Parts: sequence; C-alpha cells; structure tokens
Amino acid sequence: MTATLIDGKAFAASLRQRIATQVATLKEKGITPGLAVVLVGEDPASQVYVRSKGKQTLEVGMNSYEHKLPEDTPEADLLALIDRLNNDPAVNGILVQLPLPRHMDEAAVINAIDPAKDVDGFHILNVGLLATGQKAMVPCTPLGCLMMLRDQLGSLSGKRAVVVGRSNIVGKPMAQLLLRDSATVTIAHSRTADLPDLCRQADILVAAVGRPHFVQGDWVKPGATVIDVGINRTDDGLVGDVDFAAARQIAGAITPVPGGVGPMTIACLLANTLTATARANG
Ligand code: GUN
Repeated sequence: MTATLIDGKAFAASLRQRIATQVATLKEKGITPGLAVVLVGEDPASQVYVRSKGKQTLEVGMNSYEHKLPEDTPEADLLALIDRLNNDPAVNGILVQLPLPRHMDEAAVINAIDPAKDVDGFHILNVGLLATGQKAMVPCTPLGCLMMLRDQLGSLSGKRAVVVGRSNIVGKPMAQLLLRDSATVTIAHSRTADLPDLCRQADILVAAVGRPHFVQGDWVKPGATVIDVGINRTDDGLVGDVDFAAARQIAGAITPVPGGVGPMTIACLLANTLTATARANG
C-alpha cells in the first residue's frame, strides 16, 4: 500500500485564506499588520524566498516592507535599521533573511530584534520561552510541520518521534514542539549510532539534515508519518532528505518535495505576523 500524500500546498493555501479573513477583520478596526523583511547581499536563493514572502504578504492584505542592503553593509548599519523597525508601530513582524554575510555576527543581529516582533522565533528569548513551555514566537518551518502532523494524526500524545537534524532553525524547535504535544522525542543526527534502527522505531519521522535522500526507505516503520523538511537542489531537480519513492511504499503518510513542508513555511510566517499584531493590539 502506498502512503497518503500530505498536501502542504493545499494546506498552506487554506491557512492563507483563514489569515486573509482575519486580516480583513483587523483592517475594519483600522489595524493593518505589517511585515518587514531585510535582505543583505545578493544570494540568489534568498532573493527568491524574499520575493515570495513579499508577494504572499500583500496577497493576504498585510503591508510588506522590503529592505535590501548591499553585501558590504557594516553590521552597525543593519543594527540601526533593526532599531528603527523595532520602534516603528506600522511594523509588527521583522525577518532578517539568513544566511548573513560572513562579516556579521548572526546571533547579535537576531538578538537585536524586538522579541515581540521576532516572527522567525530565532531570538534567544523566544527560544527560551519555547523550551520552558511558555508563550513564544515559534519558528515557521517546524510550526508548519506540527500543523500538518496534528491534521494527519490528531493527538501526538505518546507517539514516538525521531527528528533527524539538530539545527536551531528546524531540528531543535521541532523537538520542542513535539514534546509540548506529549510525543516521546529523540533528536538524531548524522553521527547518531544505529540511525536506521532508531528511525525504524518512529511513528513520526522528521528529516531535516539537508542531505539529498539521506533517509532510506527501509529506515521507515510501516505506517509511520514522514515529514521531509529537506530542499536539496540536485541534477534531478529539487529533492528532499528522504528517498521518497522508496519511503512512500512503506509509510502511512508522507510529505512530498516540492509541495510538502516548503509552502507551509511562508504561510506560518504570515500566521506569526498576525499573532504578533494581535498581541501588540490587545
Ligand atoms: N533562511 C533559510 N530559512 C530561513 C528562515 O526560516 N528564516 C530566515 N530569516 N532566514 C532563512
């Protein structure tokens, strides 16, 4: 039996629709959510993401403010811009696109953002709030994964989850979110011993290692739900971190690449901007 495909594209479209309705209600009260996106340098992939974010922000009725700075911008100038955005009441969310040029201190830049406007959920305060089970801004990609998992499985309580990948952007916050939903969570990575055996125990398998087809089909427990966060550009086009063709023969449900996790990330960014706006106004 082949797995159910989890349609992230359709899920994201329906989430954006709900966000647009809530934005329309806010606008009747004279409030228009605003998202500022800052891009430093010319990284082609980042330019594509930033364009997409701006377009979708406008489509749900929010204001979009794009700030493009040259690669050689001094860090002090970026920090000055963040300070202005922090103090601008029209701006409810601030996102500084990563990676930053090498001469910049990424942690210092992220931690300069007002935590209440940190729609990426990368600020050290939001990381700590999430880790201690308090009200936090939650990173967009794992938030999107969580929404799809809840939709697919209902309660995650007591499920065994293995997250392959330990990044600050995906792996660690994904594990925190699964734990918050009472799953039993293991964070694994490329150096984990007996990784295939560990993965075979997972009811929920999240792959976020950034290596094409790293997770093999026979690492998947029959009937498991597989979430593939990878977006790897290869000669065969975009592929995930999971060997999709093999895994879909064994899994119960699986996200495709493209069209799975990817579309949910920007939709969750808009959801976070809405949340930040609601908190700022109420
Ligand atoms: N670069 C790649 N993914 C992300 C993300 O989720 N947020 C930001 N700010 N930069 C990124």
